[in-house]
Amino acid sequence: MTSVQLKTPATGEYTQPTGLFINNEFVKGVDGKTFDVINPSDESVICSVHEATEKDVDIAVKAARAAFDGEWRRVTPEQRGKYLRKLADLFEANVEKLGAVEALDNGKAFSIAKNDVAGGAACLRYYGGWADKIEGKVVDTTPDTFNYVRKEPIGVCGQIIPWNFPILMWCWKIGPAVAAGNTVIIKTAEQTPLSALVAAELIKEAGFPPGVINVISGFGKVAGAAISSHMEIDKVAFTGSTVVGRQIMKAAADSNLKKVTLELGGKSPNIVFDDADIDNAISWVNFGIYFNHGQCCCAGSRIYVQEGIYEKFLQRFKERAAKNVVGDPFHADTFQGPQVSQLQYDRIMSYIEHGKESGATVEIGGTRKGDKGYFIEPTIFSNVTDDMKIVQEEIFGPVCSISKFKTKADVIALGNNTTYGLAAAVHTTNLNTAIEVANSLKAGTVWVNAYNMLHHQLPFGGYKESGIGRELGEDALENYLQTKTVSIRLADALFG
Ligand code: NAI
Ligand code: MG
Repeated sequence: MTSVQLKTPATGEYTQPTGLFINNEFVKGVDGKTFDVINPSDESVICSVHEATEKDVDIAVKAARAAFDGEWRRVTPEQRGKYLRKLADLFEANVEKLGAVEALDNGKAFSIAKNDVAGGAACLRYYGGWADKIEGKVVDTTPDTFNYVRKEPIGVCGQIIPWNFPILMWCWKIGPAVAAGNTVIIKTAEQTPLSALVAAELIKEAGFPPGVINVISGFGKVAGAAISSHMEIDKVAFTGSTVVGRQIMKAAADSNLKKVTLELGGKSPNIVFDDADIDNAISWVNFGIYFNHGQCCCAGSRIYVQEGIYEKFLQRFKERAAKNVVGDPFHADTFQGPQVSQLQYDRIMSYIEHGKESGATVEIGGTRKGDKGYFIEPTIFSNVTDDMKIVQEEIFGPVCSISKFKTKADVIALGNNTTYGLAAAVHTTNLNTAIEVANSLKAGTVWVNAYNMLHHQLPFGGYKESGIGRELGEDALENYLQTKTVSIRLADALFG
């Protein structure tokens, strides 16, 4: 069996594929293994899905290689674009179903999950538009030479994605890879395989030839490791923890030196100056940390407020955060659902305990909510010092620290006092302050008077240990292309 009948509170019954999607078909894993998928809202088992092992990765790689060397090569750039745009249309036609499956499996609010699906569709359509706009150039050197520089796809790409934005990350990865003419094997996170399998059905419907996009469920140490060390995979793209990012880079180095792009963790500063519009700043600071239950690589988890408004800001921020509705993802008012898994719940709670033991003050939260499901109250720590673990390490939950600063120079130094460099924000009504701080922060993205304003046209990625390469925009496309120089010696006759 490679599907089951499931139900979501929003959409009723539907058929959930459970197989590995290879060569446009759902198949069982060679070893016949399966694993359970857990609903984080009530800790029940939703269903089980087939698990890919090394053998299945091999089969998927062969399929992707055959497609790359065969049919896919002959597909025109225009047609590649049409397939991607058709897939985007199908995402939009299935927004309710995909959103409901995402909410069920990941625990994010249904309304927010639907935004992820819509954002994914927009990303696929955007890269569909790029497919026939990838151009090389002609370079003049000497009069008896004709040189052209071609942009070619890299080949078979392995893509490993996390559980915090399962369907959106799927689109961010597949869009540029396929637009550039590559074929892919994408491995979803073991915590959240379901939405990608529903999306896989749409790949076939969109008309992609077999083997171009292969979607597998499986564990990091097995299927993920097999991808990153595979001799026939030409590039690996990864989003997840910095620890695993390092392992992937090592595996790439020890195998075939496949190209590597990494989008890793963060500990992003969110900076509020005395002259900020305080209502606006509070909304964005709240959204910056608590959106997606704090499970964002770019979460604004270190909040720095200038001393003149610190007390007032803290009081009002506490009131605002306490109003975030935590609960059932299928309830219309819910903003924050459960954390994704028991393991993540335990990790976050141990950071909270550590914060308390190291002398920080819990302003609000710090506790579990309810007795079933992985719900954690929005939590704010004050009285922190910069060397505390809760200020240095990525918590990946609804937990932030808040502290005071005096001057612009002080806060630039504080903001940059981290091994990470993914994102940052500055809230001020002074344009000079905004630009000076934005230019001084070592981060791949800086928002001004806002937070989490990601857009598929804008590059996103990390400075320092937050990653290598960029997602989205034209930059992501570049990461899926390689450059070939062709130099032609012209006939001597031409030059007498
Ligand atoms: P993880 O990095 O282990 O998982 C992300 C993906 O990598 C999953 O698909 C997993 O199966 C795969 N993976 C795991 N080990 C692998 C290996 N050895 N080789 C190849 N692939 C492997 O992250 P995890 O354990 O789920 O979360 C731990 C922490 O990582 C979080 O608390 C958070 O701090 C960070 N994280 C960051 C994300 C981001 O968006 N940058 C997303 C998810 C987690
Ligand atoms: Mg789950």
